[in-house]
Amino acid sequence: TVANGIRTFALEAKTGTSEFIAGKSTPTWGYNGAFLGPTLRATTGETVRVKVANNLPEATTVHWHGMKLPAAMDGGPHQTIHPGDSWTAEWTVEQPSATVWYHPHPHGQTEAHVQHGLAGLFILDDTDDPAELPHEYGVDDIPVVLQDRSFESNGTFATPDRAVSGLVGDTILVNGAIGPVLTVASERTRLRILNGSSARVYNLGWSNDQDITVIATDSGLLRKPQTTDRVLLSPGERVEILFDGSAGETVILRSHPQDLRMGKAMSDGAGANDTLDLLQVVAAATLTPAVPLPLTLIEDNLFASIASATIQESRRFELSGTLINGKAMDMKRIDHVLAAGAYETWMVRNIHSQVHNFHVHNARFRILSIENAEPPAYLQGWKDTVLLPAGQTANLAVTFGDYTDPDLPYMYHCHLLWHEDQGMMGQYTIV
Ligand code: C2O
Ligand code: CU
Ligand code: CU
Repeated sequence: TVANGIRTFALEAKTGTSEFIAGKSTPTWGYNGAFLGPTLRATTGETVRVKVANNLPEATTVHWHGMKLPAAMDGGPHQTIHPGDSWTAEWTVEQPSATVWYHPHPHGQTEAHVQHGLAGLFILDDTDDPAELPHEYGVDDIPVVLQDRSFESNGTFATPDRAVSGLVGDTILVNGAIGPVLTVASERTRLRILNGSSARVYNLGWSNDQDITVIATDSGLLRKPQTTDRVLLSPGERVEILFDGSAGETVILRSHPQDLRMGKAMSDGAGANDTLDLLQVVAAATLTPAVPLPLTLIEDNLFASIASATIQESRRFELSGTLINGKAMDMKRIDHVLAAGAYETWMVRNIHSQVHNFHVHNARFRILSIENAEPPAYLQGWKDTVLLPAGQTANLAVTFGDYTDPDLPYMYHCHLLWHEDQGMMGQYTIV
């Protein structure tokens, strides 16, 4: 609802039960329902207010992943909501359209809370967005939240032994459903895909090997649509793709084996050698025709200028084990103090034999290089999370939200949730 010009939402984190497998009941957690949460949607320039009630038996938080906002509204580990309490976050959306998301971030408990079912999408629209892009939610604009779980024979979630990368499940849930079929009635459908898994990396491709058309990554639209045969998506990352279907055809969105530069045993443990059917897309017998796509999706001057902009600071982050620069997260330690309005280059080095990724709160970045080379075209847009296969280095040009707070920090961390829980995280403030 919109009251006094403020777009207002209410989320209630609560316990429930879900039926993923026919006839079996699975205890789950969700926002407003039993599993996952509603898709929130707002437009750039709007002020949003979200009241979060915690009716769980444990303290939690709700973090707005991908959003630029004041540190006090970020919902990281410092914004604890105790059982029976509520917390209200309010901020003005000052960033372009993007598919961002929300999830719990209680220190040391993020994996458990997300695995129980707490996560949801937050779609940001911009009045400048090309009208040619599909944008009717649930009709030609479809959320695809990818998660993996394992089940006990009685239907409860199983907790298999953790691989080095964290919990990897053998069953894929898409928006909380096993083996989903999406029937589309338009020639063109937009899929907003979130990797909401704890540790699994997906290597997306179409079963008929047609190209994937990518229009957006984590933090917004690409300047131009890009095609690729595969999209690697690690936990926390989003990608928006277009599916152009022919009447009557069925195509499967699949995850293929991937090379994360790890030895065989670790690859197997991380699920990197798995082939998984994610979503079956069925095009109806008659389809609403698609309009031609614009050549340019967004004009983005910042994007063009940032690579050559005066860089205020360069920082280095080394990922090894579950430490960053040799340190585990300390809620009382501020690792970096940034100047408001700065452009920075961050070099993130995975010096470990294991896959990691790297996410920065309250920020958008360009990947300038990965392994000394330009990233593939579809990864040259705005991001907030970058995948780092074993041994790889990424150079990022980072911009931050404009809010300052000398006391309350934002986080950067590995988004493999088990690593994050182990303390593979640091804190920065903006002053
Ligand atoms: Cu998606 Cu620090 O989080
Ligand atoms: Cu985040
Ligand atoms: Cu990690």
